[in-house]
Amino acid sequence: MTSGEEGQGQAPVFGPDFAAQLETLLQWRRDVRHFDQRPVAAADMHVLLRSACLAPSVGNAQPWRFVHVRSPAIRAALADHIDVESRAASAQYADKGQRDSYLALKLHGVREAPELLAVFCDEVPVAGHGLGIATMPEMLRYSTVLAIHTLWLAARVRGIGLGWVSIVQPRTAAAMLDVPADWSLIALLCIGYPAEQGQTPELEKRGWQAREPLADRVIER
Ligand SMILES: Cc1cc2nc3c(=O)[nH]c(=O)nc-3n(C[C@H](O)[C@H](O)[C@H](O)COP(=O)(O)O)c2cc1C
Repeated sequence: MTSGEEGQGQAPVFGPDFAAQLETLLQWRRDVRHFDQRPVAAADMHVLLRSACLAPSVGNAQPWRFVHVRSPAIRAALADHIDVESRAASAQYADKGQRDSYLALKLHGVREAPELLAVFCDEVPVAGHGLGIATMPEMLRYSTVLAIHTLWLAARVRGIGLGWVSIVQPRTAAAMLDVPADWSLIALLCIGYPAEQGQTPELEKRGWQAREPLADRVIER
C-alpha cells in the first residue's frame, strides 16, 4: 500500500466558476442522434476512452471493455439489427397514434456517426478480486455505466456528441462483434459532432417525454 498523497501533486481546488461551468455542461449534455460528417480526431477518441477509464468501479475492477467498431460490414449489420428490433418494439404500443409517434422518432445514428463504440461489461474481471460483488454482482454493470457517463461528459466538453443506443439484442451484438463469452453488452455509442445543439432532450422536443420535477424523484423516510 502506498500513501494516498504519494506522487499526486497539489490537489486542485475547484472554484465557483468551475462549478457553474460544470452545471452548464450537465445541462447541455445531450443524447445525439443527428451527426454532421466532421471526423473525430483519433487523439480525441483516445482522450475520451482515457477519461472513461477514470470512472469509479466496484473493487476498482474497471470492468468496462470498449470495442471500437471499424468494420463497415459490422456497422451495417448492427444498424439493420437495430432497425428490426426497433420496429418489433413498436408493437408494445397498442394505440396507433403512439405507435406512429414511436416509429417517427430517430432512435439511433449508427449509420452516420463518424465513430461507433460498443461497450461491454466483463462479468468476471480479474481486477478487483471480487471485492464488493458478492451480494450485488450487477455493480460491475453499474460501474461500466459510470464509465460511459464519464466518456459522455468528456465528449460534450469538447463539443463532441454521443448517442446511446440500447435497442439491441445483446447476444446478437456480442456475436457480431465476436467478443469473449463473459462480456455483456451495455451500450452502443454513436460518437461525432452533433448536427445541432440544444438544451432540451430530443424526446422532450418531440413531445414523447419531458424532464420531471425533482420533487417527484426524491422521498424522505
Ligand atoms: C441507458 C440508456 C439507454 C438509451 N437508449 C437509447 C436508445 O436506444 N435510443 C435513443 O435514441 N436514445 C437512447 N437513450 C437516450 C435517452 O433517450 C436520452 O438520454 C433521454 O431522452 C434524455 O435526453 P438527454 O440525454 O439529451 O438529456 C438512452 C439513454 C440511456 C441512459
